Amino acid sequence: MVNFNNDFLVKEIKRRLSIINLIEGYTSIKKTGKGYVALCPFHDDHTPSMHVDEEKGLFHCFSCGAGGDMLGFYMRYNGLTFPEAVSDLAKRANITIEKSTPPVKGDSQTSNLFKLNSAVSGFYHRVLLESRKGGSARDYLEKRKIPSDVIEEFRLGYAPDGWDTLVKFLKKHNIPPSLAEKLGLVVKKQSGDGYYDRFRNRVIFPICNVEGKVIGFGGRRIKESDEPKYINSPESEIYHKRKNFYGLDSSKDHIRKNKRAIIVEGYTDFLSLFSAGIKNVVATLGTSLTRDHVVTLRRYTDRIVVVFDGDESGVKAAVRSLDIFLEEGLLPGVVILPEGSDPDSFLAEKGTEAFYKLIDEAPTLLDFYIDNTVNEYKNGAVTLNSGVKEIADVLVKVNDPILRSSYIRKTAEKLGLGENEVLSLVRRGKVHGQTGGVKTVKAHSNHEKLMLNILLTYPELSRVVAEEGWEGCVSNPDVMSILEEIIVKGVHDMSSLLLSFQGSAAQGLISEALMSSPGISDGGTASKMIMSCIKKLKLAKLDERLKSLRLSINDAVKNKDAELEKRLLTEYTDLRKQK
Ligand code: CTP
Ligand code: MN
Repeated sequence: MVNFNNDFLVKEIKRRLSIINLIEGYTSIKKTGKGYVALCPFHDDHTPSMHVDEEKGLFHCFSCGAGGDMLGFYMRYNGLTFPEAVSDLAKRANITIEKSTPPVKGDSQTSNLFKLNSAVSGFYHRVLLESRKGGSARDYLEKRKIPSDVIEEFRLGYAPDGWDTLVKFLKKHNIPPSLAEKLGLVVKKQSGDGYYDRFRNRVIFPICNVEGKVIGFGGRRIKESDEPKYINSPESEIYHKRKNFYGLDSSKDHIRKNKRAIIVEGYTDFLSLFSAGIKNVVATLGTSLTRDHVVTLRRYTDRIVVVFDGDESGVKAAVRSLDIFLEEGLLPGVVILPEGSDPDSFLAEKGTEAFYKLIDEAPTLLDFYIDNTVNEYKNGAVTLNSGVKEIADVLVKVNDPILRSSYIRKTAEKLGLGENEVLSLVRRGKVHGQTGGVKTVKAHSNHEKLMLNILLTYPELSRVVAEEGWEGCVSNPDVMSILEEIIVKGVHDMSSLLLSFQGSAAQGLISEALMSSPGISDGGTASKMIMSCIKKLKLAKLDERLKSLRLSINDAVKNKDAELEKRLLTEYTDLRKQK
């Protein structure tokens, strides 16, 4: 019987199992001169793009960017959470975990937060179903045609009208209100002591993580005059709206089985689809789709259809999400509903079959984007020149060469251009970056990656880097958080570092850095190189600032704002001197 904490348990798993054997079970892998290469199972791979390093215990796909350690591989391939993966692999490695020490990361503080959320969700649920006060909310849900088994499964609730219903509940159960404040369930009164309820006279939608634990709440008004329509839990230690979906805990198995996921925007949209038997669905939480969302969902399927409301903001949101999907190597389908509809109202008016038809016939997001831009050109909203450049900018990001050329052909046809004209724009974008801006960002990101690379091999350089003021010059947020972990939190052990980023896209950056070794032979050279990286990044930042100052100065001159011009010029000359 082993009584390990997470870190030890993961190390023990890695010590006993081989990453080569593990990956071999899922895709074809072969030995080359230096190591192993495999067909990457995370994108449509035709040449073996995935490299596996047995000694380092890492895999990395140099085409789609997926990477990490054996736990990362196993989680991603099987669509599992970290604790699920640890428990499976521990079994495979013949390690018995003591029951009393679940391998779930989390201290008593977070487990208290989960417990509190669960108690509160039970409370609101009982109020909805059992109390006289819950009558109006029961009527409301009936009017919205949400059946009782769905109310039960999603533990929907009701927060009564009044300022202290929950405050009293907490008191009765000896729960410190400060804990509830951390979750945004109660709010501290501005005058004097005491707290009041955040959710009042609202239908409550508990939001769960993939493991089914309540992490936050959404509350919809019942009275049309209450504002706003929805109130949600604020971000907390356990609630991150940019990372979580509503409903994924209930729908993940259906998504796997259906091999397709539908993304909608609202709680009620989710529940209507689910009630109609369309269960392979998730909803974002009052925020537009993020990269973390896409990475999470891809654990379950790479076939995704996004459904947007039939209004202008729906079209805009669709266009915005395209980059995220392409950067993750995915091409989803997109449905823009008829004007004025959302999934909930569409289903009520047109029925399930009609909805399925939309999903089955959904064009790809790229087709939609191209058509949309072509229409803008035809309406005179954009010129031919800028329209085709815009499309070329997006096509550069399509990794699959066959797909890319088919879209180049389509674009040329639709705009009445020769294929070569579009192709040359895409090529130019690929080689040079479309504009100066893209180019500097590229160079930038190479130095950031090199810095990460060196620091991962020589973590003892952390102190030097910290003294150099690295924070100001790093732009990539993923690189930033990895560097923070190494430099500020002092995590120097690779296995622990990977553990901090389980299930996050940042793992791919770590494996990339570790597996594309720049071949530095000693600490002295490493130190020199990392200093030169920081210097270059600082210079690039300075150049950016100088460039934007030049533009502002021009504007000031044009607007005859002499005072502003003088101030900007002083800053400009100071920065030039610094440089
Ligand atoms: N939303 C929010 N805060 C608001 C408005 C909306 O968080 N003030 C989020 C909610 O998650 C909501 C989603 O954005 O479900 C979509 O908003 P909207 O289309 O306005 O609402 P519906 O989901 O259609 O809600 P209902 O059908 O109840 O009107
Ligand atoms: Mn709606």
